[in-house]
Amino acid sequence: MSEEFARLTIGDTTYKLPIIEASTGERAVDIRNLLKETGLITLDSGYMNTGACTSSITYLDGKEGILNYRGYRIEDLAENCSFTEVAYLILHGDLPTFEALKSFRQDMRRFALLHEDMIHFFDSYPPNASPMSILSTTVNALHNYYPEMNESEDPYGGYTVTAARLLAKTRTIAAFSYKKSIGHPLVYPSPRMNYCENFLNMMFDRPNLPYKIIPEAVSALNKLLILHADHEQNCSTSTVRLVGSSGANLYASISSGVSALWGPLHGGANQAVIEMLENIYADNKDFEKYISKAKDKNDPYRLTGFGHRVYKTFDPRAKIIKNACDDIFEILDINDPLLDIAKELEERVSNDQYFIERNLYPNVDFYSGIIYRAIGIPTNMFPVMFALGRLPGWIAQWTEMKEDRTRIGRPRQLYIGHPQREFIAIKDRG
Ligand code: ACO
Repeated sequence: MSEEFARLTIGDTTYKLPIIEASTGERAVDIRNLLKETGLITLDSGYMNTGACTSSITYLDGKEGILNYRGYRIEDLAENCSFTEVAYLILHGDLPTFEALKSFRQDMRRFALLHEDMIHFFDSYPPNASPMSILSTTVNALHNYYPEMNESEDPYGGYTVTAARLLAKTRTIAAFSYKKSIGHPLVYPSPRMNYCENFLNMMFDRPNLPYKIIPEAVSALNKLLILHADHEQNCSTSTVRLVGSSGANLYASISSGVSALWGPLHGGANQAVIEMLENIYADNKDFEKYISKAKDKNDPYRLTGFGHRVYKTFDPRAKIIKNACDDIFEILDINDPLLDIAKELEERVSNDQYFIERNLYPNVDFYSGIIYRAIGIPTNMFPVMFALGRLPGWIAQWTEMKEDRTRIGRPRQLYIGHPQREFIAIKDRG
């Protein structure tokens, strides 16, 4: 806590509000006692200014375009680590030793299977069922088969086991949801493959047509999952914390996070980007039509993949993904017209006063869909890929919330409806 105070004057009374300092220097006015002392609440729809917790997982500086997990730069992690290594870092707070990583990888293999009874769930969905809906409900149902353990029940670290299970099984559920959506037989996880290889194999292996692992695809997938692994208090993570704050179990909380991620303003954006680029392409590359629609205040249309609540200079993840995009297209010798459309759209937007004035730059979703396409992931699976990447972050944030003994989340409101009025029985209402 800093020595400084903010002063709030209401009428004749001045209140002193403590200033709290973050380890990286940002400061916050502590209003936790505001209601008790002044009788007033604060109003902050969309939580533009409200810090909901303290956290030691992810540091983000939107002005400088900095993103660190547990103190490590995202650029270093994306360049040098596997997703499993980063997941360990996010969950445990430190990079793993060689032995710890080996054991964590074994957990990913050991826990990869689903209880065989759960396989029937996949048969109950209609054809073309949305993979995001299957993911959300099946993750929730894991609780019935693998009740979470806490540390006191389990000498090997209960939550650690539950977290490893969730990571391993959610990958299996994600791949099964895709196989189900195209009516193909499910491919079970292999005990011989690493995390990303296993996922790609479960997605693309077919009877009589074995999937050949492409190292460049594995490496691109690792990078994308790392870049999505946590992003502090966004909509889905806040949902996970809020649901968990009621005492709901980890699976239920993560399942709610999946639902929150689904929307096109959040994790559904990568799918919407591809649809937007396809529309521009099909419309004879009429960029101006779409840019004008996005600028028209009477039209709700937006250029998906541009803008971010916290990044106001650039999104560091978008920068890494754009470079990765060029690399993978060159290595795999792919020619996708949507990549050219994306680059031209970015160029036009970067020179347009409307977007410049509002600090609207490409976000993580702008180029990620193009890479997913390049490695064969279908568009309706993009939000699922995002969820898979975000999983370590959600689990770590949920665990931190528990450890901090956070109170149940319960925002206030300003009521603007009718004052109390007299009830009139239906026979007298006319
Ligand atoms: N296209 C056109 N105009 C936009 C866009 C866009 N993509 N994004 C913001 N604006 C405009 C708004 O109309 C508003 O203009 P105004 O000040 O004249 O009213 C201004 O920029 C500020 O926008 P807000 O909606 O107030 O910004 P907010 O922080 O609430 O929203 C969001 C951020 C949701 C990401 C927004 O920029 C958006 O809708 N982008 C497109 C969807 C998208 O790409 N989402 C993925 C985000 S990244 C992620 O979740 C991983």
